[in-house]
Amino acid sequence: MDYNPTVMEHFMNPRNVGELENADGIGTVGNEQCGDVMRVFLKIENDIVVDVSFKTFGCGAAVATSSMATELIKGKSITEVMQVTNKTVLDALDGLPAVKRHCSVLAEDAVRAALWDYAQKQGIVIEGLEPPPEREHEH
Ligand code: FES
Repeated sequence: MDYNPTVMEHFMNPRNVGELENADGIGTVGNEQCGDVMRVFLKIENDIVVDVSFKTFGCGAAVATSSMATELIKGKSITEVMQVTNKTVLDALDGLPAVKRHCSVLAEDAVRAALWDYAQKQGIVIEGLEPPPEREHEH
């Protein structure tokens, strides 16, 4: 696979891997195209993502995009996190091969699902946040 050096670097040395104890929000999503799974853990204090981690059974591109996504949202407010899309992550990674673009969606979806979980637990509404898709398509 033709990954650029930035993607390779995040794939070989992914940031924020693992589980967060006492996470305030946990999101798990499956990729319909490949069946890979991504889980994101968020620690949120006063509307700020103070810590974030991820676990994935996805491919190298999924690892790299999740690594970059966690770096981009750490320390950000929920409003700022809502503005981080897979395009933001792709740009930060200097792009992915076209056949791997769908992998980047996994990171965005998992972050949104974790935010949704947080909002449910807190009984709050996050503007613009949609409920995560059902996981019935997971392989
Ligand atoms: S091939 Fe499944 S996440 Fe990339």
